[in-house]
Amino acid sequence: MLSIIILAAGKGTRMNSLLPKVLQPLAGKPLLGHVICTSETLEPHEIFIVHGFGGELIQQYFQSNMGLKWAQQKEQLGTGHAVMQAAKTITKKCNALILYGDVPLVSKETLRLLIEGHQNNEISLLTTMLPNADGYGRIVRHDGDIKAIIEESDATDIEKRIKEINTGIMYCDAGLLNGWLNRLNKNNTKGEYYLTDIIGMAVQDGVKVRGTKVENWEEVMGINDKKELAIAERLLQKNLAEDLMKQGVTLMDPTRLDIRGTLVCGKDVVIDVNVIFEGEVILGDNISIGPNNIIKNSKIYNNAVVHANCHIDTALIGQDSVIGPYARLRPGTDLNSNVKIGNFVEIKKSTVGENSKINHLSYIGDAKVGASVNIGAGTITCNYDGANKYITEIKDGVFIGSGVELVAPIVIEKNATIGAGSTITKSAAEDRLTLERSKQVTNDKWQRPKKT
Ligand code: UD1
Ligand code: CA
Repeated sequence: MLSIIILAAGKGTRMNSLLPKVLQPLAGKPLLGHVICTSETLEPHEIFIVHGFGGELIQQYFQSNMGLKWAQQKEQLGTGHAVMQAAKTITKKCNALILYGDVPLVSKETLRLLIEGHQNNEISLLTTMLPNADGYGRIVRHDGDIKAIIEESDATDIEKRIKEINTGIMYCDAGLLNGWLNRLNKNNTKGEYYLTDIIGMAVQDGVKVRGTKVENWEEVMGINDKKELAIAERLLQKNLAEDLMKQGVTLMDPTRLDIRGTLVCGKDVVIDVNVIFEGEVILGDNISIGPNNIIKNSKIYNNAVVHANCHIDTALIGQDSVIGPYARLRPGTDLNSNVKIGNFVEIKKSTVGENSKINHLSYIGDAKVGASVNIGAGTITCNYDGANKYITEIKDGVFIGSGVELVAPIVIEKNATIGAGSTITKSAAEDRLTLERSKQVTNDKWQRPKKT
């Protein structure tokens, strides 16, 4: 049985942030969230999160994940001390896999390789070769066998030249692990209980340390500061973009796309530059997304076009619809098929029927707009009286002239026409022209003011 221990108690001093390190977002998800997701794919018997600094925030963030077991490390006395907090309550006969909350890109395939290569009564360690090993624990080998891990701060100049490093990830029998943890001490430069010291102990006990080298160092990079966070973000985005292109998505520039969540695409999707997808976004077939769009938690059906510079949040866009440029679709927007939403139009919590058009400079909120409706430029649904919100109902076939205010609650009946510039406060009759305007006057005596 597999027991996974994820270390997440450290403050992350080098982040220079009030947010605990493992909650720093990578592709829109906390570092720790990535490690938890990968852990779950291994179907472990249990997952322990060792929390300490900012522990309450971390527990709060993951509270809906009932499968997690929490072990508190009150004082951050080092990675060995952190593992102790969980290892003492580990289910008997489990093998422990130790993961780090700040090593988020490690793949399930690599972890499987480590686990599958493991032999009883050994300790398996994931290592990698780094072009620049600064800051990492170095793997000391004699005649090819791993003998110890030396932390950077305790390493001699010769040891510092070693390019093989400790990823931090290891796997062994929980009983053996507990034995070694009990023998740890703080006799090192940092005065911490180093988890890495158990490697030297295992060697002394005659236990074989089996090293598995990861080819691709990028997946085991530790994230300690904002610079490393930015590097990891680009790596992850590059991988996500490559996956999309493999599926047939056309990316005008794969380096100018950000996916902070999940993006599902149908066939023949084209995405222009500088588009940010957040949360869960689903795009159907033959969709075109113009440049500079932000699209969050939304679903866009087949053949729709989103022109440049739109902000789309929690919206449904029907097939053949055309949005933007410069449109804002707020939560609760539900557009049927072949709807046109043009520039500087804001829509909130409203449904719009098929073939309807709202092409310029309008605010439509808390509205039910029917099919084949045409809403002129500068139309506003006055949905709010300062205390409550009210519904505007615009039935099928309605034509609303430019610059109209519809004071809700109000119903505009089927095929009604509303004259431009009207402020409509009472419901408008079916098939009729309704308008509300003051009489136009001409003042013969008026003169333009002159500069004095
Ligand atoms: C650690 C390893 C180093 C390895 C590197 C890989 C040790 C002593 N060093 O160094 O060999 O090359 O990771 O990325 O293990 N944590 C706790 N409680 C603590 C201290 C740390 O939970 O008291 C957690 C942190 O939240 C973090 C992880 O352990 O997720 C690693 O801690 P960090 O301080 O970043 O260790 P490194 O110096 O990177
Ligand atoms: Ca680290």
